[in-house]
Amino acid sequence: MNILILGGGGREHALAWAVKQNPKCDKLIVAPGNAGIDQIAECADLDIMDGSAVVQFCDAKAVEFVIIGPEAPLAVGVADRLRDAGLLVFGPSQEAARLEASKHFTKEICDAAGAPTAGYGHFTDAAAAKAYVEEHGAPIVIKADGLAAGKGVIIAETVGDAQAAIDDMFSGAFGGAGAEVVIEEFMEGEEASFFVLCDGETALPMGTAQDHKRIGEGDTGPNTGGMGAYSPAPVMTSDVADKALNLIVKPTLFEMVKRGAPYQGILYAGLMIKDGMPRLVEYNVRFGDPECQVLMLRLGAQALDLLHAAAEGRLSEAQVNWADDHAMTVVMAADGYPGSYAKGQAIGGLDDLPEDSMHVMFHAGTTLRNGQVVSSGGRVLNATARGQSLREAADRAYALVDGVDWPGAALRRDIGWRAL
Ligand code: AMP
Ligand code: GLY
Repeated sequence: MNILILGGGGREHALAWAVKQNPKCDKLIVAPGNAGIDQIAECADLDIMDGSAVVQFCDAKAVEFVIIGPEAPLAVGVADRLRDAGLLVFGPSQEAARLEASKHFTKEICDAAGAPTAGYGHFTDAAAAKAYVEEHGAPIVIKADGLAAGKGVIIAETVGDAQAAIDDMFSGAFGGAGAEVVIEEFMEGEEASFFVLCDGETALPMGTAQDHKRIGEGDTGPNTGGMGAYSPAPVMTSDVADKALNLIVKPTLFEMVKRGAPYQGILYAGLMIKDGMPRLVEYNVRFGDPECQVLMLRLGAQALDLLHAAAEGRLSEAQVNWADDHAMTVVMAADGYPGSYAKGQAIGGLDDLPEDSMHVMFHAGTTLRNGQVVSSGGRVLNATARGQSLREAADRAYALVDGVDWPGAALRRDIGWRAL
């Protein structure tokens, strides 16, 4: 099978790495890819937001299966364009991708499905939003409705902060994403990411992970795309996972079918767990980044069979074979991220790192300049390792980090602290 993966982050390097292990993969192309992906696949310069361009590319390269990594192409309907052209695709339709692209849509689906989530109000003007905050008090959560690259959520500790956030959103601080605002009850508890593979009808749990969203050790400082993750998440006991599947995910999928928009792809449920009860924080319509890195290292070659079965509607015959293992990934970011940071810094030592089924250095924002790997983004490398215990995985992941020669790196030394 000739396979095209869309995207160029750590998530897509991990997907490419796992797909490449599977003998069913003949040719592997990744667009746009990065310096790490370039070592295992052909990287293509292609506008992945342009569905027609992707269709033409697939025709020219005899691509048979397309795996869409990030949310942005899904939200503009690239999966639909590809399916209309007769291609096999992993990833939801534009309509189903609203589960990530509109927070208000997700809240409505949860209401209709009876799925436990935070109480909320939905507003298109600041005065009504402020009145809601006055009535409910703080802490309270203010969310821009649309895609805002993970920055559209403000946790307001005081009513004053909440009002300021409302003013910011309605005055265009988040562009079109803030034209509608959802205000939510602040939920306490422990967060976990629950990944469920869906083929429109069948839901197959594909692992759990915990992310570290804040830039600073001890979960301090501004939010990022994620500074490290580990899998499995101990808080996701089989009882909590069953509840999340049966009370949240399956009713959501059923509701999507009822609305004529069956969900096919990976559904990432961000959960808040308190007293053994999960509630939905948000859905994402793609793998988490960096959560995907730990899932792929644990799953290996079977990941392709699972994604392929989801795309072909054969999940009821599929199963996930888990080893009794743990994985951790530590993000190495450019100093200054998530604010402004330098690009083009040379990164050494990568060729001497161990690379096997226990260790992989996945690349995110890297590029090749005259044969030298240089940084080209905020999150740059993902030191990823597996072990029989989380401690062993962590020691291996940090040994990878310590083998990299890049003085401009910023990272957290405490990934996994909750579980360790
Ligand atoms: P998001 O950008 O939607 O992933 O949200 C960012 C983070 O905000 C989540 O991972 C949670 O930590 C937090 N968050 C969002 N909604 C709530 C809520 N209703 N209660 C508590 N924390 C929340
Ligand atoms: N790591 C969080 C996300 O991918 O949304």
